[in-house]
Amino acid sequence: MEKKRTPRHVAIIMDGNGRWAQARGLDRTEGHAEGARAVRDAVETAARIGIEYLTLYAFSNANWQRPRAEVEALMRLLVDFARRERAELRAQGIRTVVIGQLEELPTATRQAVEDLMAYTADGQQMTLSLALSYGGRQDIVEAARALAVRARAGLVLPEEIDVDFFHREMSTSRLPDVDLLIRTGGETRVSDFLLFEAAYAELCFLDLMWPDFRPATLVECVERYGAKERRFGRTSAQVQSASGRAFDPIDQGL
Ligand code: FPP
Repeated sequence: MEKKRTPRHVAIIMDGNGRWAQARGLDRTEGHAEGARAVRDAVETAARIGIEYLTLYAFSNANWQRPRAEVEALMRLLVDFARRERAELRAQGIRTVVIGQLEELPTATRQAVEDLMAYTADGQQMTLSLALSYGGRQDIVEAARALAVRARAGLVLPEEIDVDFFHREMSTSRLPDVDLLIRTGGETRVSDFLLFEAAYAELCFLDLMWPDFRPATLVECVERYGAKERRFGRTSAQVQSASGRAFDPIDQGL
């Protein structure tokens, strides 16, 4: 019997909290609070169904432009999440890491997230990666800048720089490529999320708002992913004949 394919790395753009709240006559921040509850269920489900890496777009570097009260509410929710969930995350073997610019966060939030990372550092079941003050283009530009500095100092040869080498400079260096990228909220764009890492990701756009995301929704997305053929630039016949053999699109230059 053919083994069902589970994506190794799932990334989620959790959009629609504000609209979910507004549709109920609530403040946008109540949508974020409900969104945080959906985060909890999504993390637990992802670990249970064998996803190894789950990356959540919790706060983009563009989100700093939101009204101050909303930014503050989001920062508080992150503190609450980090404190409330850490024992459970550790018990479930879920290690938490951060991509983006943790140093940009207010001290209390940064501290709570750092504590969470330290407390869950030994988790082996799944890696939960929180994108905080994250921007995909910024991450690429910073890696390029770091390499340029090292090249100028003679520590790197330009011809040494390939995809893997470049990726090692990014804040996602310890995460594998994204297999499945999910976005809730009805929009069909990637909004500066994992631009480099999701190069071959399957995309799953959902009309529902993030607070309505349920464990069954994740299972459904993963099943849809399992039914897709990933060709990494090759033909279907090539993929079929190579199935069973290890295939690395990067090694193949595709
Ligand atoms: C986008 O919805 C969502 C965000 C900017 C924040 C996501 C945050 C959470 C889900 C809760 C906190 C996170 C964790 C990890 C505990 P939106 O506000 O843009 O919604 P809209 O498009 O309907 O306005």
